[in-house]
Amino acid sequence: MRTRVAIIGAGPAGLLLAHLLHQFGIESVVVEQHTRDHVAGRVRAGVLETVTVDLLARIGLDERLRKEGLVHTGTNISCDDETFRIDFADLTGGASVVVYGQSEVMADLNAAADSRGLDIRYGCDDVALHELDSDHPKVTFTRLGETERIDCDFVAGCDGYHGVSRASIPSHALQTFEKVYPFGWLGVLADVPPAADELIYASHDRGFALASMRSLTRSRYYIQCSLADRLEDWSDARFWDELTLRLGVHAGARVIRGPSFEKSIAPLRSFVAEPMRWGRLFLAGDAAHIVPPTGAKGLNLAATDVIMLAEALAEVILEGRTSGVDHYSARALARVWKAERFSWWFTKLTHRFPETSGIDRRLQAAELDYIRSSRAAQTVLAENYVGLPLTP
Ligand code: FAD
Ligand code: PHB
Repeated sequence: MRTRVAIIGAGPAGLLLAHLLHQFGIESVVVEQHTRDHVAGRVRAGVLETVTVDLLARIGLDERLRKEGLVHTGTNISCDDETFRIDFADLTGGASVVVYGQSEVMADLNAAADSRGLDIRYGCDDVALHELDSDHPKVTFTRLGETERIDCDFVAGCDGYHGVSRASIPSHALQTFEKVYPFGWLGVLADVPPAADELIYASHDRGFALASMRSLTRSRYYIQCSLADRLEDWSDARFWDELTLRLGVHAGARVIRGPSFEKSIAPLRSFVAEPMRWGRLFLAGDAAHIVPPTGAKGLNLAATDVIMLAEALAEVILEGRTSGVDHYSARALARVWKAERFSWWFTKLTHRFPETSGIDRRLQAAELDYIRSSRAAQTVLAENYVGLPLTP
């Protein structure tokens, strides 16, 4: 089989790229190892920056988002029992974010992929990339007992942190940077109204907590936990007790409890692989970089990589100009590193680190108090949270 662009992975990065290329009139084939239900059902990100919302509009997939997404013009920060609000709209000249779950984004991408006839192959095993440093790369895989081969002009590695794409780059051609955090996030979904109109990021003596939501009747809550914790250690009752304490007296009192229907523990990591290109392979999204979820940047970074990559591929495929693909890695990394910095800073500011002493907690509290009282500090937080502009 032949196509222009072989896309590895049908997560947000892979499907967004397939839709954008389709809009440019460029054909692609998406190769995914799991089933569609598995990929679409994963509970992950919840906050979309304006660039991501604009991308969904650009590919004609913002109708449900405009109806059901919750526009947030600010967020709350709580330190022990004090809460203050960061007013994004006021601080950034009108910017906001939209709360709309990754599983909803995936549902919209999948429904449109069907109606637009995009070629997405699920259940592909043993995916392997070949001759990436030539002008005729290939992708092979087995599906339903048959071995298949795709000949293409370019390969887009959108297969997440554990994928095969980054692993196909020779180690001498790749530099990686990594920080693993000494705690995880225990996340819970429950069909109860959220504790507040907007998110609450809470830094508490007992550890971080986050009150988020998926709709006005569905709450998403997280608490910092030990990496040694198991889900069995966390009954619903224990989770609600701990969350309530960490959100502080006011917000804690407004938490409505209910049975959880999803509970998971995620490790936290900062990771970047450079460059995001090798020969005719281009990495995008989690395949190239991971952020701790504190800044809500993971999905948004995948979206902005894809905008830059699709434009670069369109330029070379449709016009024969290579400057876009030649600059893709540097252009994407410039934005990625700023989101890495912000996510790391926001994590450090709000979490309890096991090895730290009393002075670290006091310094955190002082920084939070400074942010509470300084418009300049709030502006820095707000403009990073709503998302930095795409670099030219
Ligand atoms: P992925 O979503 O990982 O998609 C990659 C796809 O490639 C998957 O479907 C995978 O099955 C497929 N694949 C992998 N290997 C192969 C292979 N060898 N062959 C073929 N296909 C392959 N971000 C936030 O902003 N907020 C959050 O709260 C948040 N929570 C998260 C919780 C977890 C547990 C994880 C893992 C991530 C979370 N993220 C969160 C990050 C966000 O979900 C990701 O940044 C986003 O999914 C990245 O999209 P992606 O398409 O690059 O990668
Ligand atoms: C979520 O709703 O899942 C969410 C929101 C904000 C974050 C991380 C996760 O920073």
